Amino acid sequence: MVGVEATASGHFRILAASTEIGQGTNTILCQIAAEALGVDFDRVEIARPDTAAVPNSGPTVASRTCMIVGKLVESAALGLKQILDQSGLDCAAYIARYGSLRSFSRYQAPPGIHWDDQQYRGDAYGAYAWAVYVAEVSVDPVTEETRVDDFVALQEVGKVIHPVLAAGQIEGGVAQAIGFTLYEKVLWREGRMVNGQLTNYILPTAADVPPIRVYFEEQPYAYGPAGAKGIGELPMDGVAPAILNAVENATGLSLSEIPLDFTGRSAGPAGPAAPEAAAAPVRGERKTIVLTVNGQRHVLQVYPMARLLDVLREHLRLTGTKEGCGEGECGACAILIDGELVNSCLVPALQADGTQILTIEGVPEGDRLARAFLACGGAQCGICTPGMVMAALSLRGRNPNPSEEEIREGLAGNLCRCTGYMKIIEACRGL
Ligand code: FES
Ligand code: FES
Repeated sequence: MVGVEATASGHFRILAASTEIGQGTNTILCQIAAEALGVDFDRVEIARPDTAAVPNSGPTVASRTCMIVGKLVESAALGLKQILDQSGLDCAAYIARYGSLRSFSRYQAPPGIHWDDQQYRGDAYGAYAWAVYVAEVSVDPVTEETRVDDFVALQEVGKVIHPVLAAGQIEGGVAQAIGFTLYEKVLWREGRMVNGQLTNYILPTAADVPPIRVYFEEQPYAYGPAGAKGIGELPMDGVAPAILNAVENATGLSLSEIPLDFTGRSAGPAGPAAPEAAAAPVRGERKTIVLTVNGQRHVLQVYPMARLLDVLREHLRLTGTKEGCGEGECGACAILIDGELVNSCLVPALQADGTQILTIEGVPEGDRLARAFLACGGAQCGICTPGMVMAALSLRGRNPNPSEEEIREGLAGNLCRCTGYMKIIEACRGL
């Protein structure tokens, strides 16, 4: 169930338990409600998704947030508009007379769709989105290295609610699917993943992902908000077949397993299994260090081998710098030390004594680059974003007018799992 309520100031609040995790839920639900109510986007907000205060609208998973919850938001908003229209009052007058103005909508399966919650059988999905994928690949006949050089995704999604967010979802899904087609091999030993580190589980970087060109086709679905269907999972399904077919076209070899392996041998030896428990660190005696962070001088007592990342996050509470892998592979912890890009998870704090440090907190909100990340949709979950911005700033320092290839190389030390890099590269154009 989902609700929409009005306030006496003429604003509207969506009551739903869907959580914003970078996929754009708050934006699209407010868009859908504003459209149904016939008001400006700025007059709609979303309540905190706490089921103590809002109806339980089910889990935030897969495409149901847009298609199912979005449709409920649309019907609740239409219901609220109808109440207002029939009363002939504005929000303030209605609330003054009746105490509150709310409308709720409960899910009902579309006609012909049946689901048995006891047996867990039936039609789980009311509609499907469709897609056509075209991959252009090159295969080195000697090393058998395979690259995707160009990729086109044509997506039929019912209705595009937000063009930038929708394209970002598709680009991110395509990049993940290229990863699991070409590089990502999960190795199991005795029930445990033995290559669960970014040093031996290889993800594609900005330098490995080709241009991903996304086109949309719209065939509105009557039971989705404004006709929208789900799009999130779709690019994970068709990309591998497109790449394998392109490889077959190029080499004549019919391959049916991923990650791609021409020899049939495993993709390489597993890395060492993760230790059962980390040994207690040798801490030594605290030392005094002086760091100038974002223009502010700090005198700190730290253990000599304390990681600079921990000193920033825990001593100075600068939590914008993130920890991803903790082993120098993902770039989430990137900062600038004396103007040089470094991964702070690898730097002992003592080594940074006397340096000037810039973290994401020191980048002005009005910085063109930070604004471009926002405007282009270069951030989704946001874990990689601080490190990406620092890498882009470092690139700007070295080369204020980089080519696309130079941008890709400049960002190759920073992994992103959400965006497919396209919108990040776009944000970095004309640094
Ligand atoms: S946390 Fe991944 S490189 Fe530092
Ligand atoms: S935005 Fe989520 S990892 Fe990059």
